[in-house]
Amino acid sequence: MLPNVLQPSATDHVPVLAAEVRESLAVRPGQTVVDATFGAGGHAALLAADLQGRGKLIAIDRDPTVRTYFERLEKRSGVQARLLRGDFSVVLPQLAANGVQADAILLDLGVSSMQLDRPDRGFSYSVDAPLDMRMDTSQDLTASAIVNEWPERELVTIFRRYGEERYARQIGRAILRRRGEQPFERTGELVDTIKGAIPAPARFGEGHPAKRVFQALRIAVNDELGSLETALPAALEMLRPGGRLAVIAFHSLEDRIVKHRLRGLPGLSVLTKKPVVPSLLEVRRNPRARSARLRAAERLSEASIQAGSAPARAR
Ligand SMILES: C[S@@+](CC[C@H](N)C(=O)[O-])C[C@H]1O[C@@H](n2cnc3c(N)ncnc32)[C@H](O)[C@@H]1O
Repeated sequence: MLPNVLQPSATDHVPVLAAEVRESLAVRPGQTVVDATFGAGGHAALLAADLQGRGKLIAIDRDPTVRTYFERLEKRSGVQARLLRGDFSVVLPQLAANGVQADAILLDLGVSSMQLDRPDRGFSYSVDAPLDMRMDTSQDLTASAIVNEWPERELVTIFRRYGEERYARQIGRAILRRRGEQPFERTGELVDTIKGAIPAPARFGEGHPAKRVFQALRIAVNDELGSLETALPAALEMLRPGGRLAVIAFHSLEDRIVKHRLRGLPGLSVLTKKPVVPSLLEVRRNPRARSARLRAAERLSEASIQAGSAPARAR
């Protein structure tokens, strides 16, 4: 049983696939754990508990507001902990270049519940807010810069590629028309423009009509796919032989990158043939877990590479 302070309720966030992440990473006392997407520290608290007071936790996040959660966890966990603020695609290669080694690395991708629920961050299509969507609030590029300044062709491309939006062309055209009259400042203005651009039946179809465009903008603002592509090889480089990497993706574009990268990286044994998905019970309790897909891999030791043997699936 975990001490109470380390239960997920110690944060405001319910970690997704928590038991499955713990099982995949199989953290033991004395190890070094890297949580590259610290957020509210929900997973980090559980992994720190597995260190049982002996070991190191390196937390990374590009959002400066996670510091409060980190300070709380640092006090309670009893392990040596450090917070590195920055994009994991920059921080992980820096750590690897400095010879830092890890036994377990977690990437729980996308935005956190706190980011989604804070209206002023502009991630949500259901609340009117400034059109921002930056995870790192010191970054220059915002959703409003993309919507007001990018050429129509590029808008259509990201809506199609990152949002799989059927009406990308119509929405792109409507955005150009509207911004010619008045620049976009708020999420509500964009939602209205999207609603006006798509055929009436589609407005009442599957999900919110602005969902896919908002997803596309968020991915573009934060260069989410580019960061993931760069981070995965660096994470592998940091893993000690026998060390494990777990990645939770929330949409098919991310999951495809994780699947191909894990298969394509030498010296790595994939532990999850198929992605691990949340149980019906978890989805009922936490609907945001619905699209989560967990994949995990273990770095092989030189001996097992030479012997051509696969690692044990569970420790
Ligand atoms: C889904 S939340 C993680 C929640 C966390 N596992 C927990 O249990 O509280 C994702 C977090 O990763 C951060 N993040 C996303 N992409 C990042 C990147 N490229 N570099 C650093 N942090 C990133 C976000 O700012 C957010 O806080």
